[in-house]
Amino acid sequence: MYRIETLDEFIIKRQKSYSTATGELTGLLRDIGLAAKIVNREVNKAGLINILGKFQKENASGEQVAKLDIYANDRLIDFLKTSGECAGIASEELEDFVVFPPRNEQRGKYVVVIDPLDGSSNIDVNVSVGTIFGIYRRVSPEDQDITLKDFLQPGLDLVAAGYVIYGTSTILVYSTGDGVNGFTLDPSIGEFCLSHRDIKIPEEGPYYSVNQGYYLKFDLEMRRYIDYCSDLNLRLRYIGTMVADIHRILFQGGVFLYPNTRKYPKGKLRLLYECNPLAYIVEQAGGKALNVKLERILEMQPEELHQRSSVIMGSPKMIDEMAEFVQRYAPNIPSEVG
Ligand code: AHG
Ligand code: MN
Ligand code: MN
Repeated sequence: MYRIETLDEFIIKRQKSYSTATGELTGLLRDIGLAAKIVNREVNKAGLINILGKFQKENASGEQVAKLDIYANDRLIDFLKTSGECAGIASEELEDFVVFPPRNEQRGKYVVVIDPLDGSSNIDVNVSVGTIFGIYRRVSPEDQDITLKDFLQPGLDLVAAGYVIYGTSTILVYSTGDGVNGFTLDPSIGEFCLSHRDIKIPEEGPYYSVNQGYYLKFDLEMRRYIDYCSDLNLRLRYIGTMVADIHRILFQGGVFLYPNTRKYPKGKLRLLYECNPLAYIVEQAGGKALNVKLERILEMQPEELHQRSSVIMGSPKMIDEMAEFVQRYAPNIPSEVG
């Protein structure tokens, strides 16, 4: 008989296969899974209770914040704070990072970066939203409080990353650097169950995903590449929730672009909370993730918590092709492709 494998079972099994693993990362991932279930419950009943709508405030990046953003932010912090393994978090919703007090005089070994609710503009209209997370081993001494440096690590130093998509079903996808696996929440038993083992992104695919409304605000090389996608009759899909757009591309192949625009000269998406964790997943699945200068996202050295970046990620063949356009139409960009 087919036996389901829950997220917790999977995480523990994985831990056992590494003789050096101490279990702390395992505990942290389980806590994130638990928090995701709580957020999922609220997302699902968002239309029923008076939780929809906006707070009269802006988040650290100056955008309007929907109520569920705050709810998701607070729940994730609650769970991570009491986990014991996490020394602090940085969130898209908070100006500064949060230091968690030691538990039993022990400080956690890890710090976590989160975009608690990705795609907030879609909440009120019942379209998929997500949660994104990344986990780093702290670099500061463990007997002291964490510092900004613990968060300003390049994506290459992530020890784990993932996302949850609250869609037609709720799916948690994560990697600890040895492939990517996906778990679908079975609401009847309240467990994430292994549903997508060892996810591999197709070499190329039928989709391109970009806010084409900004076409005239993109640089020439991006416009030429988008024209090329259109000439190829690729199908344009753009949800406006990065998690959901990447999720499609991860399974069906394609390319996701958020280049710099006049409004966002460095790109809109946040390096720590959005670009790095999703670049990590895409690369772990065999894809590529670059910025418009053709630098590998995971090699970028963050300078500040809320740093933004341009991003192009997806199927490896398509990213190589995109790089050719950039080299042809923006010849001052080096030819080394990450
Ligand atoms: P968030 O809701 O966390 O602020 O993120 C929204 C992001 C991302 O998910 C999406 O791809 C992008 O913003 C959409 O931006 P545009 O509306 O400018 O296309
Ligand atoms: Mn986001
Ligand atoms: Mn968000």
